[in-house]
Amino acid sequence: MSTEQPLHLILDTDPGIDDALALLLALASPEVSLEAVTTVSGNVPLTQTTRNARALLALAGRQDIPVAAGAERPLVRPPIHAADVHGPSGLGRAELAEPASPARAATKAPILISERIKAAPGTITLVAIGPLTNLALAVRMDPEIAQQVREVVIMGGALRVPGNVTPAAEFNIYADPEAAHIVFHAGWPLRLVSLDTTQQVGLTRAQFTPLCRPESLIGRSIEAMLAHYFEDFAPRAGYERFHLHDPLALAAAFRPELLRWEPVYVDVELSGSQTAGATIAWFRRRSQTPPPNVLAATAVDIEGFTTFFLERLARLL
Ligand code: RIB
Ligand code: CA
Repeated sequence: MSTEQPLHLILDTDPGIDDALALLLALASPEVSLEAVTTVSGNVPLTQTTRNARALLALAGRQDIPVAAGAERPLVRPPIHAADVHGPSGLGRAELAEPASPARAATKAPILISERIKAAPGTITLVAIGPLTNLALAVRMDPEIAQQVREVVIMGGALRVPGNVTPAAEFNIYADPEAAHIVFHAGWPLRLVSLDTTQQVGLTRAQFTPLCRPESLIGRSIEAMLAHYFEDFAPRAGYERFHLHDPLALAAAFRPELLRWEPVYVDVELSGSQTAGATIAWFRRRSQTPPPNVLAATAVDIEGFTTFFLERLARLL
């Protein structure tokens, strides 16, 4: 995508190590004007995801960007977290300074999302890289935002690959399937970046070395986040790579050419005792298949994205 005007983007997130890398990618990319960050319960509880978002913006010298906290629990189910993957703080071993400035946005996340979209019809791109609770609340409160948002990009789901929380479901969808069902049926232009592509963009610890520059506070912070993953979590889980789930979804918003897209009807399973949170994609259409409701990423330029990601993050060091 090569446009003169930057993309006006709101990032809904549950930092989270890969969320942190996605946020830094947004800040490193001149194609993006990050208008606001909204936070949700996910990888760690809301108080922690909100603190992490504010601390990461302060780390990058962008306290000017407002952070609005959202839902502290899913619409129906009890909250789940992934502190094993991301550490109790959500940012591995990184110890980021308490953000000095008070939280800029007193508004709650769903209200900020709706107000910003309504204030600039056709302009705001909403990128969601955590559970979809805030987006569901916003579009239930103001359904017209589905026609006023420029585009919604979601990291979530597992279409033709197994889930990463259960064999059927990916974390962001499994954490709040009712919210995901609302979001998938809201009628807004929706790009879906699922595990089908994000699990193809994993980096080894050695590949992160260029970003872990000791002379850079951001570099040291990235190294500390990943130290938890590669030393405390991956060996037990049998992983050798850190998957760039959220950075790929963020990049899809302004570099969609890095992926192949296919219109498809996707629904979310709500009632299965073993399959709740599953994303059911009707790639092989049948007479009764509803019309497509998402553009699903079905392939990724692995080398192209990896090079892009490392080059962009290096600009911040
Ligand atoms: O399944 C991967 C997703 O769940 C990512 O967004 C990660 O941050 C976790 O939230
Ligand atoms: Ca996330």
